Amino acid sequence: MDGVIFVIFGASGDLAVRKLIPALYELYLGKYLPENFAVLGVSRSDYSDEAFQKKVFYDSEFIDLKDGDAERQKAFAQRLSYLAIQTAVSEDYAKVKSKLAEMDEVYKTESNYIFYLSTPPFLYPIIPSCLAAHGLNQSNQGWRRLVIEKPFGYDLQTAVALNHSLRQYFSEDQIYRIDHYLGKETVQNLLVTRFANGIFEPLWNRNYIQHVQITNAENLTVGSRGGYYDKSGALRDMFQNHLMQIIAHLTMEPPIAANASAIRNEKLKVLQSIRPIKEEDVPQFVIRGQYTGSIIGEHQINGYREEEGVPHDSRTETYVALKFFIDNWRWAGVPFYVRSGKALPTKVTEVVITFKDPPHTLFRQEKTMQNDNNQLIIRIQPDEGLLLKFGMKIPGSGFKVKDVGMDFHYTDLTDTEVPTAYERLLLDVIKGDATLYARGDSVEEAWRFVAPILDAWQNKPDIKVYGYPVGSWGPMVVSKLSSSERMTWRNPCSELTTNGSFIEL
Ligand code: BG6
Repeated sequence: MDGVIFVIFGASGDLAVRKLIPALYELYLGKYLPENFAVLGVSRSDYSDEAFQKKVFYDSEFIDLKDGDAERQKAFAQRLSYLAIQTAVSEDYAKVKSKLAEMDEVYKTESNYIFYLSTPPFLYPIIPSCLAAHGLNQSNQGWRRLVIEKPFGYDLQTAVALNHSLRQYFSEDQIYRIDHYLGKETVQNLLVTRFANGIFEPLWNRNYIQHVQITNAENLTVGSRGGYYDKSGALRDMFQNHLMQIIAHLTMEPPIAANASAIRNEKLKVLQSIRPIKEEDVPQFVIRGQYTGSIIGEHQINGYREEEGVPHDSRTETYVALKFFIDNWRWAGVPFYVRSGKALPTKVTEVVITFKDPPHTLFRQEKTMQNDNNQLIIRIQPDEGLLLKFGMKIPGSGFKVKDVGMDFHYTDLTDTEVPTAYERLLLDVIKGDATLYARGDSVEEAWRFVAPILDAWQNKPDIKVYGYPVGSWGPMVVSKLSSSERMTWRNPCSELTTNGSFIEL
């Protein structure tokens, strides 16, 4: 593998400490990193190399150094260097350039650089232009890659503008837009489940599937992130990126090969096929909600409007549920229901495929279940796995049918260590594999779908924001979305095979 310097802009920030350095360290321990590897932290605060190493490594509560090998810890820490600059001042990048040249000498990294923007979004267009002003964008000596974190824009216009400004200095194949859901094994496994098995794909279409549900629930409230969250809301924070990526994996056509461009081409196509929800139809297809305070056990839990940094008249949604259709041959007429929210009963993300009933019902009188006895549940997190539900005969006279399930849990693969999403994605960018990164065109396409919804909410204040108590499954009115179909939400628990039988708080 090529040697590389991993340059983190915003290196003293939360993401670097919580995710990036721990992921790089795990990769280092697992011997996945190239021999010639170093990290350069860049931000405005003044640190020496040693003070930086202490902050992000030795004192980090996200890295367990207790039982480790002290020699290896030291060897890793010594590869962490630091440089303070005014990140928005182009002249200061001369310092970055000479520091990188110095490090190239020491670590033999041959001018291969990854620039990771872990900064506030207003710097996303600025840093690439400053790098370009010093020739640090050009892959002529070594290669240069740029990684950016979400948000990729705030709406369609800003996303298009951001892509445009990034592409002025870096080509699309140098740009890696990170979406940590794509680093989750279970999101990647959607492709394997579909395309490595002969049994699912023949059923994966309008002829056999009645509807699809996706639930993305978090039990945590917004807490101290109110300042950020109030400008975002569930649709921007979770749906436009993470959930649309899951939808694309679930619904795309088979790619012609398992490589970045073939997979990303198919994802783009299916995102283009999602039927837009027109501004005037938003109340019919989209429900938004906001959690209200409640008492759980002995604790009084704040409602969203009481959270720090949230205006007391905020109309930002902490919950969103939508119904939409995909207008192509495979999915014509199949409704998709997706919901995402904070302060719900448990933390869970799962996909539920409900298959159509058999064409002729023989055992109608004796059935104990109504509709949804043929379901495939794909658990993204936690208790990652698959559950297939179907009807079986109850022993004894007659034909009484009972619901049973076959389940697979990732934990059964005991000898496999599952890498965290960041470990997987950082290793991919080091190797130059963009398959699990979002391409600019599909990011714009996802914004194109959510744009009329955001516009409607902004332009029509009479569209309701429904309250729901902390710890409930969201506004009751959500059932209105599916009133014309036989559909009920599966309310999952943290364990894959239990559902709806109790609520966890
Ligand atoms: C982030 C959102 O992208 O994803 C957060 O900004 C959310 O609001 C988080 O909590 C959820 O990620 P995960 O991996 O915990 O499901």
